[in-house]
Parts: sequence; structure tokens; C-alpha cells
Amino acid sequence: MQNYYKNRAEEYEEIYLRDDPTRQEELRKLEELMKETLVNKKVLEIACGTGYWTRLLSETAQSIIATDKVQQVLEIAKEKQYLCPVSFHIEDAFKLSFKNASFNGGLANFWFSHVPREKIDCFLTNFHRVLQKKSEIFIADNVYIPSIGGELVIKKGDNNTYKRRKLKDGREYLILKNYYSFEDLLKIFSKHITGFSKDNIFYGNCFWCLTYELE
Ligand SMILES: C[S@@+](CC[C@H](N)C(=O)[O-])C[C@H]1O[C@@H](n2cnc3c(N)ncnc32)[C@H](O)[C@@H]1O
Repeated sequence: MQNYYKNRAEEYEEIYLRDDPTRQEELRKLEELMKETLVNKKVLEIACGTGYWTRLLSETAQSIIATDKVQQVLEIAKEKQYLCPVSFHIEDAFKLSFKNASFNGGLANFWFSHVPREKIDCFLTNFHRVLQKKSEIFIADNVYIPSIGGELVIKKGDNNTYKRRKLKDGREYLILKNYYSFEDLLKIFSKHITGFSKDNIFYGNCFWCLTYELE
């Protein structure tokens, strides 16, 4: 997957430009909720990619440490203009190097679907470890739309799903991409967050997002 994002870096943000009113409306809703949830926070961003959400969040956050495993996407992110202090770090989302309770805001957009199901607990435990009590968190990702989402690939003995992705130059990749229903999200996050309820979830036609506060 890291190889795919390294080679896709230049064309990545085209996904946010699709001319579909529902998508655009939901993207703006996500943007608004994200900015509101993380206003004035010292934010750790997981898998920031080319900095699309980092730039938007910089309008309301106090500061952002934006992380990704792939240098090539960070190089693109670094070229953008930000409205709050932002620094970029190479980090593996499963092995964060920050000290416990280093931040009071957490952001992970379009990353959760790439986490293997067997590593969800590992990711959330790590993520929450570096956040202070009462931190605010925002996580967003895709809803599966069969008509545009393409075929999901299933492997025997593996409960993750995969998608075939083709770059403009013709190179093809098989990428882990898991989709979650409203009920799945409720179940997964209730396990990690006391009091997590349906009110913490927005589930749209194209995207979902979660906002919650750590205990
Ligand atoms: C779908 S992109 C999301 C980028 C950005 N958050 C956005 O929404 O535009 C997924 C990102 O995960 C990064 N990534 C892949 N494996 C990672 C890992 N183990 N730790 C941190 N980032 C990783 C990729 O480099 C890529 O930038």
C-alpha cells in the first residue's frame, strides 16, 4: 500500500474534486465538523497524505503534527500554505513514536479503511495512548457505493477486503480497503470508548465520520 501511495502522490487529490453534488456536500459537512471538533487543539494527524485535510484544519487548530509513512506524499503536503503551525513527520500509525499524552486532538481521515481488521485494536490503542484525557477526535472515511466503488476482492481465510487500483500510467495495485456499516462502527468504537453511541457517528451516502472525546 505504501508503494501505491508513493506512486499515486501526484494524482491523489483528484478524488476530492469529483463533480457530484452529494459528495461535495458531504465533504463540506466533514470539513465543518472536523474544524469545529478540533478548534484550538494541538492535533496529531495520522496518515495525512498530501495534506488536503491538514490545510483545511489549519484554519481552526492551534497546531498540527501531520504524520505519514510515505515521504513522497509529505513532500507534496509541505508545499501547501497553512494558517497555524504545522510540522510533518514520517511515522508508522501502528508504532507512533510520541510520548504518552502529547496531544489534545486527533485526526485520521481516510486511513481507517486501510487498517487490517486484526490491527484495529493495535491502531486505536496506540493512537489514544499519545492523546491526553478529554482529547477530541475526528475520524472519517468512505461508505461503500457499489456503482462507483468497484469490485471488492476477497481472499480465502482473510476477513479484510481489497480493491484493484490503477494509476494513470497503467500500474496496478491490490490495496486493502475495508468498508464499515453504521452498526460495525458502533460496535468497534464502543469497545474502546466508554459512552460511545450513535450520536458520535455521521453516516452519509458517500462518507462517514466519527467525533468523540477520550475519557
Ligand atoms: C487514503 S490516504 C489518506 C490521506 C489523507 N489523510 C487524506 O484523507 O487525503 C492513506 C494514507 O495512508 C498512508 N499510510 C499507509 N500506510 C501507513 C502507515 N503504516 N502509517 C502511516 N501512514 C500510512 C499512505 O501513505 C497515504 O498517505
